[in-house]
Amino acid sequence: MIVADSSSAAPAAPGFYAARLAHPGAVLAPMAGYSDAPMRQLAAEQGALWTVSEMISARGLVMGGDTEKLNLGRPYAGEQGRAVQLFGAELELLSEAVARAEAWFAPAAIDLNMGCPVPKIRGRGGACLLQTPEVAYELLHAMRAATALDVSAKIRLGWDTDRSVEVAQGLQAAGVSLITVHGRTSRQRYTGEADWDAIARVAASVNVPVVGSGDILSAETARQRQRESGVAAVMIGRGSVGNPWIFRALADGLEDAQPSAQVRARTALRHAELQTRFYDDDTGRLTLRPLRKVLPRYLPDYPDLHAELTQVVTVADVERVLSPLLGDGATQTPATPAAAEYAVSYP
Ligand SMILES: Cc1cc2nc3c(=O)[nH]c(=O)nc-3n(C[C@H](O)[C@H](O)[C@H](O)COP(=O)(O)O)c2cc1C
Repeated sequence: MIVADSSSAAPAAPGFYAARLAHPGAVLAPMAGYSDAPMRQLAAEQGALWTVSEMISARGLVMGGDTEKLNLGRPYAGEQGRAVQLFGAELELLSEAVARAEAWFAPAAIDLNMGCPVPKIRGRGGACLLQTPEVAYELLHAMRAATALDVSAKIRLGWDTDRSVEVAQGLQAAGVSLITVHGRTSRQRYTGEADWDAIARVAASVNVPVVGSGDILSAETARQRQRESGVAAVMIGRGSVGNPWIFRALADGLEDAQPSAQVRARTALRHAELQTRFYDDDTGRLTLRPLRKVLPRYLPDYPDLHAELTQVVTVADVERVLSPLLGDGATQTPATPAAAEYAVSYP
């Protein structure tokens, strides 16, 4: 009989975040109304280090009758490397939500939202937790006890003043595997500029990896911010809407380059197709509505197409509007699912 000998056992495999951070690249930000499965798929194919779901209410998951079919949490077929973000402030609900999210959504890690400035959802979660960080530490402790996956937190600098170093140190003591910092206070919402000096102070004050978030619109800025602030990686939100190629540039060490209009138009069409497939609506009548704000972002230099792109109802509409740019073989799926490259093994 072979008896496990802990003294000679191989060192524990690194957790998900540590394994991914061994690669170059940037992270797709959680964005309610944007970072759904189709957007995450396009980002992952372009080499995003990992992606984060839109925030999901812990209360909704546990009490609301939401199931594994919940579109906010459901992965696309074959999805890997996606953290699920939970929103909440009640200990038992969050613990239960972690267990459900893990069982239903196959996440690679679980993240706690400590940055949402407009809690629409009942409870004092999101950025409210920055006013009572002791509560957040307890929540994270409980979340960690509910799963063997990495658990992380995404914060803003503070509620109305910068408390980020204190909060990050408390989160580290609570056992998080990673902290993401959006360099604004909650009061600032999205105004002003993200304070990367403050993000740098957080990165210098804890041992767990810190990911920086705020106002990254190009690969060049991403590299500069990462270098100057000492963060383990940067996260990109608004700058990746209609621009998944920003992840490819950062994964492969390339300069910023706009793909041709044809590639951008084909990707916009593919986004519409993925959307229709994921939400399982062949007509696209309902599901293309949220994409109307996104499609023009693929083609900022074609303003004359924007009005029509914001009125599309079906995939055929998207194809018709984009037809001058699509060229032959428009509906072919690009044969570069680079996601497999990033399918590093993790526990
Ligand atoms: C439309 C929108 C929705 C967002 N939703 C979330 C969310 O669900 N969870 C979260 O932690 N942050 C959310 N954020 C914040 C982003 O993750 C990110 O930290 C912030 O936008 C700054 O990064 P950026 O300048 O690259 O967009 C959202 C931001 C936007 C613009």
